[in-house]
Amino acid sequence: MTVTVSAPRIEHHREARGIGESRPRLSWTITAAPAGWAQIASRIEVLRSEASVAFDVEGPEQVLVAWPDEPLSSREIAHVRVSVRGEDGAWSAPSEWTTLEAGLLTPGDWSAGPIGAIRNENPHSDRRRPSLVRTEFAARPGLVRARLYATAHGVYQAEINGRRVGDDILSPGWTVYRERLRYYTYDVTDLIEPGANAIGAWLGDGWYRGRLGWRGGFRNLSGDDQSFLGQLELTYEDGTRQVVATDTTWKSARSPIIASGIYDGEDYDAREELAGWSLAGFDDGEWDRVQLRRRDPATLVAPTGPPVRVTQEVAPVEVLTTPSGRRILDFGQNLVGVVRLRGAAPAGTTVTLRTAEVLQDGELYTRPLREAKSTDRYTFAGRAEGEEWEPRFTFHGFRYVEVDGWHGDIDADVARGALVARVIHTDLERTGWFASSDPLLDRLHENVVWGMRGNFVDVPTDCPQRDERLGWTGDLQVFAPTASFLYDCSGMLTGWLRDLEAEQLPDGTVPWFVPVIPADTMWTPQRPGAAWGDAATVVPWTLYERFGDLGVLRAQFESARKWVDLQAEISGPSRLWDTGFQLGDWLDPAAPPQDPADARTDRHLVATAYFALSARLVARMAEALGDVASAEKYGTLADEVRSAFVARYVGDDGRMTSDAQTAYAIALRFELLPESLQDAAADRLAELVREAGNRIATGFVGTPVLADALSAHGHLETAYDLLLEQGCPSWLYQVQMGATTVWERWDAMLPDGSVNSGSMTSFNHYALGAVADWLHRVVAGLSPAAPGYRRIRFAPRPGGGLTSASARHTTPYGEASIQWRLDEGGLHVRVEVPVGAEGILDLEGEDVEVLGHGVHERRVADAVLEEIA
Ligand code: BGC
Repeated sequence: MTVTVSAPRIEHHREARGIGESRPRLSWTITAAPAGWAQIASRIEVLRSEASVAFDVEGPEQVLVAWPDEPLSSREIAHVRVSVRGEDGAWSAPSEWTTLEAGLLTPGDWSAGPIGAIRNENPHSDRRRPSLVRTEFAARPGLVRARLYATAHGVYQAEINGRRVGDDILSPGWTVYRERLRYYTYDVTDLIEPGANAIGAWLGDGWYRGRLGWRGGFRNLSGDDQSFLGQLELTYEDGTRQVVATDTTWKSARSPIIASGIYDGEDYDAREELAGWSLAGFDDGEWDRVQLRRRDPATLVAPTGPPVRVTQEVAPVEVLTTPSGRRILDFGQNLVGVVRLRGAAPAGTTVTLRTAEVLQDGELYTRPLREAKSTDRYTFAGRAEGEEWEPRFTFHGFRYVEVDGWHGDIDADVARGALVARVIHTDLERTGWFASSDPLLDRLHENVVWGMRGNFVDVPTDCPQRDERLGWTGDLQVFAPTASFLYDCSGMLTGWLRDLEAEQLPDGTVPWFVPVIPADTMWTPQRPGAAWGDAATVVPWTLYERFGDLGVLRAQFESARKWVDLQAEISGPSRLWDTGFQLGDWLDPAAPPQDPADARTDRHLVATAYFALSARLVARMAEALGDVASAEKYGTLADEVRSAFVARYVGDDGRMTSDAQTAYAIALRFELLPESLQDAAADRLAELVREAGNRIATGFVGTPVLADALSAHGHLETAYDLLLEQGCPSWLYQVQMGATTVWERWDAMLPDGSVNSGSMTSFNHYALGAVADWLHRVVAGLSPAAPGYRRIRFAPRPGGGLTSASARHTTPYGEASIQWRLDEGGLHVRVEVPVGAEGILDLEGEDVEVLGHGVHERRVADAVLEEIA
């Protein structure tokens, strides 16, 4: 078998055009190699301006290997390929080339300024008419390459010569704009004509100046200066460069978008379209001049992950007529995106689309959306050939759409051709799969996947539908391991962590959501809160564990350390964080609907437990980074907090002061209990689960760790009982009730089909879906045993009557998988280990076995282990 290598990957980019790293790290996978083969050296060839240089690197490293050459300069294009050598001394054939291109790396590269309309845009209204901006330019013959570097205050879509630039939506996304405004780089070579050309952009309010937040929310949080910033660079054969940059010679006009908001939807009047506005020769004599806004080019940053895109279309499965006679389309799946319509109607006909996740009494039920209107309106221009439209600058979380004002009847056939849901999210690469013999469990897993898709819309959000959609830190903190398995979210979350640090207060406070928006006194997010603030330690650690990226630890170390220092300061010498407001075990089903923080487990117990965990993680981060002094300091701190925790909250018999599931689960999972008390605590936890009839009795803090706490301490069957319970509240209760995503509240929909009267009733919240990580690691049995899955633990733990399960994950080393099946012949296990990684097979009751790369099959019958392949 010959050794083959994949084309190298650049940092965490899916496409490496316009990258911000001048020394990008490279990763490759070895897609085939004989058994026992190991890389002992690699050769990285870098081809830059015609000359290629080879760099030989000793060692087995193949993930995020340092850039071997001089740094890239702005706009530079380079090609890299890799070959590898094993112990036999033979070099493999080189991989395919990967092309990478640097973005604008220094502030001095920017000549464009942000431009926006000069007219008064009524900054305090939700119904501000956004602008179009445009200009024309002449291109010479001999064009080699054209790039558009673009961003906006607000959101934008650019056009050149009547054609859309790129396929990203809602760009530039949501970052802490005052410090980090992302720009995107587009290859527009094919859109440019020799001679006259036009370029323009649509603008929307987006997160920059649109309404954000609940109870009326806030407008203009980042400014009211909607603007577009674009720098088009044309490179010619003779090496010259022509730059067309946004400046005061551009023109602006009112767009046919009458109003547009993330929460409220979009209102579009096709009669107001300015036909040909982005074509050369369009008469913009009536258009206004533009105004130059302010923006420090030092704040412009290249993306670290992919943009948001449409990734799927879903047709309606049914057209319903409600008791009140309205027409509702059911898309069969709670999803996030917009609806595209196609149809013909007389000029002035307005179609209104209102969305919701659920129905109640057969009607569209929008109360869970709170103040998000989630309504799109399209007014036809009356074109005989028909019209097609989808909103540009909004998104909705929905399964049902009420259609009002449709021209003619709308039956199932009409709906199928005319209305389609366009699913949007950050266009991450899918990397993880799970299946089992239980269809309900598979549906739960599918719901988790849909929940992630709908809530990874540039920012990892709590929910995608109501007047929130914020980067709640606690939610991500618990879901990050699951997310990292299902999709390659490394680039996206690395970027979000930079925002987290940007929002951190000088004293170390990590806000409850990132980016921050203000809120009323009760909800002021810039307050230290356990489990939420701990995103500063848990998320970088998770990314390190799952993607092997030491760089993320280096980048986040200060932020993580500051968070732990703050916890230490608040707790003082007692090492107990027992003061102040806490969200605690949020949404424990026993908490009253109007006070989700009032959980069974003492919120300060939760706070100290998380303090201990974060101190430990900072110690581990320091150790991984080679900072011995910090590793010792935070290790000692973690020990002290643990002792204080045990002294304060755990009795000599292992009983805890909060005799509740979350208390035991976190104490066990965060390794806070002395060995002598672990069994007693685990037994009590299992007993509590049984006493509760396997119904869930935990919230955001306890639920994600509960199954692990049980299975790791001798109560696997109890963990399965909990997992497979179908009564309310439980994971499968939701599935039985027809859920197609994971709900925020265990009983968001009550057994009688009505919606819970509380105000937190999102039907698409990923936090409680964090159990999927346990499905992957324990039920199927695939987990990282060393950072980046360099060592992979295969430890399936069949139970609960399942007869098979499988998991597959594209690790940084390539694909790893496990499948197991139970039949009369015993337990059959098949695992696949990628080249460069090592497998650890840990079957219950058997000795642990170390596996090299390749496929391995084993059978355990009557406790006898057999090797099959
Ligand atoms: C959000 C959450 C969040 C919680 C914390 C809610 O409004 O939707 O998921 O973590 O508040 O208070």
